[in-house]
Amino acid sequence: MNYKKAIGVFDSGYGGLTVLKEIHKLLPQYDFIYLGDNARAPYGPRSFETVYEFTLQSVKELFDMGCPLVILACNTASAKALRNIQQKDLPQIDPNKRVLGVIRPTTEMVGKISKTKNVGVFGTQGTINSGSYPIEIHKFFPEIQVYQQACPMLVPIIENNEYQSEGADYFVKKYIDELNPAEKNIDTIILGCTHYPLLISTFKKYLPENIELISQGEIVAQSLKEYFHRHPELESQISKNGTLSFFTTDDTESFDQKGSVFFGTTIQSKHIHLK
Ligand code: DGL
Repeated sequence: MNYKKAIGVFDSGYGGLTVLKEIHKLLPQYDFIYLGDNARAPYGPRSFETVYEFTLQSVKELFDMGCPLVILACNTASAKALRNIQQKDLPQIDPNKRVLGVIRPTTEMVGKISKTKNVGVFGTQGTINSGSYPIEIHKFFPEIQVYQQACPMLVPIIENNEYQSEGADYFVKKYIDELNPAEKNIDTIILGCTHYPLLISTFKKYLPENIELISQGEIVAQSLKEYFHRHPELESQISKNGTLSFFTTDDTESFDQKGSVFFGTTIQSKHIHLK
């Protein structure tokens, strides 16, 4: 299967569509292929090895479809698989291909935003346990104190279309209370999971008003644009017909239905079986 030389965008399920939406808004000229591994989502509670294995399989599939670049629009995959894929697998598969994640561009922003130098991170259990956010933030901003809070119930709630329910309110409030940003003088919080933008109004409802909530879509889009400026040799390879193709490892009907909520417009997917 050859889908020109599109930008591949990968997530465990629907969350990456919130990132693709912003990338497509900023860079509509490129071709995109989205791959959601819905059959095996959520990745959050899975082991390092499993997330790495699943992510690598999807990346290879997108490479086989012709993508010169794949974006892991999933924090859990970025936290647990990106480094291995970049350092171990890419040199063997094809040293000219690229795989980028969503954590680095997000962490580059926080030092510019936080004044109190106390930053909170909400994410899946996998992302939080990996310590990727504090590690990456401290590379740029060692003076920042990072407070993490795992939110294991949120991806299942969102994937099951319960994000506007009382249950969603209950858990968002519970995780905010556990983080307790007021006590820690936190002024900036990263929504470190690409599913969470669907809950942004719920987070805003329960968070103190002075807190800056960072969600990743626009940041990743802007950072990709800058990346292309720095890497014209890669940019020139990407095909530019403005097409969007969607693939899911699970049922296409429910992907199209739920995915449209994440992406903001109607989408039509095809089923894919990962090798
Ligand atoms: N959107 C993924 C992330 O950003 C969700 C992970 C999951 O499947 O649990 O982490």
